[in-house]
Amino acid sequence: MQSETEKTPFGQGDASYRAAGGFEGLVDLVERFYGHMDELPVAARIRAMHPPDLTTSKDKLARFLAGWLGGPRLFDETYGPISIPMFHHHLDVREDGRDAWLACMQAALAETDHDPAFKRYLMSALAIPAERIRIVAER
Ligand code: HEM
Repeated sequence: MQSETEKTPFGQGDASYRAAGGFEGLVDLVERFYGHMDELPVAARIRAMHPPDLTTSKDKLARFLAGWLGGPRLFDETYGPISIPMFHHHLDVREDGRDAWLACMQAALAETDHDPAFKRYLMSALAIPAERIRIVAER
């Protein structure tokens, strides 16, 4: 039987943004995410696609995720509108790049004490744009 938590509708309103700990939680998550990208051998190829200094990359991803998870649209407010697949279309992502990106996020999430149901939800939700990016990047 599912617990109440399993049934939490993370896709509704700002439920996901709150489950992620709001902007502060996302800044922490993204810091860990890029920390793993710096360290995981499997992520070395996608790390090399990024600039040496990740300060702006971190700010952009945390702000993007805020709006994407139903919270304030902080990316658009600061950097303007973005299409995630089109932004990545020039990159040589491939399956291993997609999987490495998701592995960094999985490792980052594992270090947080967020609701386990939210962690599963977020990983399955992020797999969708990650796969879309891979497809668009191969065109
Ligand atoms: C599928 C594997 C992915 C790869 C290899 C990848 C790689 C990259 C790279 C190389 C950059 C440029 C960083 C910079 O120049 O500062 C970037 C930026 C970004 N990525 Fe990804 N990414 C992936 C997936 C995702 C996903 C799934 C999302 C969102 C759900 C995402 C959101 C962003 C955002 C918001 C930016 C900043 C865009 C900007 O500079 O305006 N990425 N990504």
